[in-house]
Order: sequence, then structure tokens, then C-alpha cells
Amino acid sequence: MHIELAKTAGFCFGVKRAVETVYEQVRCHKSRRIYTYGPIIHNEEVIKDLKKQGVSVLHSEEELLKIEDGVVIIRSHGVPRHIYDLLKKRNITCVDATCPFVKKIHRIVAEESEKGSHIVIIGNSVHPEVEGIRGWAKDQVSVIQSAEEAEHFQAEKEGQKVCIVAQTTFNYNKFKELVEIIDKKGYDIIVLNTICNATKERQEEARRIAGRVDAMVVIGDKRSSNTQKLFEICKNECLNTYYIQTLDDLDMNQLRSVETVGITAGASTPNIIIEEVQNYVRINF
Ligand code: F3S
Repeated sequence: MHIELAKTAGFCFGVKRAVETVYEQVRCHKSRRIYTYGPIIHNEEVIKDLKKQGVSVLHSEEELLKIEDGVVIIRSHGVPRHIYDLLKKRNITCVDATCPFVKKIHRIVAEESEKGSHIVIIGNSVHPEVEGIRGWAKDQVSVIQSAEEAEHFQAEKEGQKVCIVAQTTFNYNKFKELVEIIDKKGYDIIVLNTICNATKERQEEARRIAGRVDAMVVIGDKRSSNTQKLFEICKNECLNTYYIQTLDDLDMNQLRSVETVGITAGASTPNIIIEEVQNYVRINF
């Protein structure tokens, strides 16, 4: 049997960096409590493992206010500026694992906002990354994710400059469409395409592999939306596509009669799980 493992399977650069930061902090601070502000990734296995090593998840600002000391790690999504201020004020050690691509958006928003621009974030307003970006704008800021919202957009002040950025995982075509709608309103706009290619590249590689193999295995947490999307893309190309969370979910019978198997994984799937699946398929088929 031939196995084709996607090169882009699993963690992107920013998530890998954030997860490694947590394990590094666990090694460095044996006697201190370690917290992550929000789950470091959406993967049950990793969260369970970190819990075993004494890492707790803070789910809200209220929970953050209850801790007295320890180390708080900011995940790759980033946080609003006031969270850093809060940690500093309370003398709590902050380790920043915000993805540098997200950090760059924070910088742009802070600078443009300081210059008086109205900030437009193209993205999902309830996504933590967008909540974080929003928290770097001084005052006027709008979050837009549909054509209807773009049509209704109005800058706060007349003649005000408008600065448009995007959530890193937003769809590029949709971003372009929404920017065009806002552009027609005649504002002096500055557009910064801050979309990260990691997701697109993973999806495109998965599509290519699924199109040429007999069966495709997609590994990822059941609640991970990017893994679900990856599964749909692969299923469209290859009917024998299987969604598994860990090796335990793999049904050997499904792969018995195939000659080529493709493997990919969502952005929050650790390498160790991907390798386990790959080795198992290699040995047993
Ligand atoms: Fe960063 Fe792109 Fe991943 S923005 S967290 S490398 S998807």
C-alpha cells in the first residue's frame, strides 16, 4: 500500500509555537501554577495532557481576576490590549504566544487607530482572534462579515480614513467582495490583507491528494471547524474519506481493499497522533 501524508497536515507555525511555549513553561516553572488564557488549541488530547502536567485553562477575564500569581500564557489567537495591562497591574507573569501574524494586525490597528482611522475588521465578531484585534483599536471599530453588513457600513466621522484588516483565517474571495462594497462608498481607505495562507495551503494540498488516492484519512478533533472543513473538501474528491480523532477510531476494514491512502490533519492535531496513524497504516496494510 502506498501512503501519501500531506506536508501541511497538523499544526500551523503559530499553533506549533504556542503549544511548544506551554511545554517549555511547564519545564521551566516546576513550582509555579501555569495557566493558558483560553484553551491553547482545540484538541482534547493535548488539553488532557497539559492538565496532567498541571496547566489550567482560564476561560474568562473574571477567572483571570481570581488568580493571585503564576504564569499566564497568551495563546496564538492573541488578546485585547487591556488583558496585558491587567496582568501587569496584578503582577502576574505573562508569556505571550500570540502568533506573530496576529501580532502584526494588533500593531497595524493600534497605529492606524492612533492616527484617527476608523478600523474595519473583516471577520467573525465572536471569534477570540477578532475580539483580540478589536481590543487594540482606540475607539471607532466595526466588525463586518457579510455583504449586508458591508452595505450598511458608515465611518463614524465625515471624511474619516478607513483602515480595513482581516481575520487571519477569513476566506480571501469573500474579503475581496466586502472590501469592494466598502470601497464604492468613496472613503479614503487603506486595505491590509492580513489573511494567513496556512489554512488555504492545507486545504489545497488535501484536495489534491484526495483527488488521486483510493481512501483518505482526516485526523482532528470532532469539534474543530477547520478539520470539519478539511473533511468536506476531501469527501468531495474521494468518497472513501474517514474522519478520525485518534488511532482508536480507525476502522481497519475500511482500508482493506485500497492501494493508496492519503492522510491529512486539522490545524490542531499534534504530530504524534499523525505519526501514530501513519505508522499503523504502514505496518498493518
Ligand atoms: Fe498564525 Fe496563520 Fe496559524 S495566523 S496561528 S500561522 S493560521
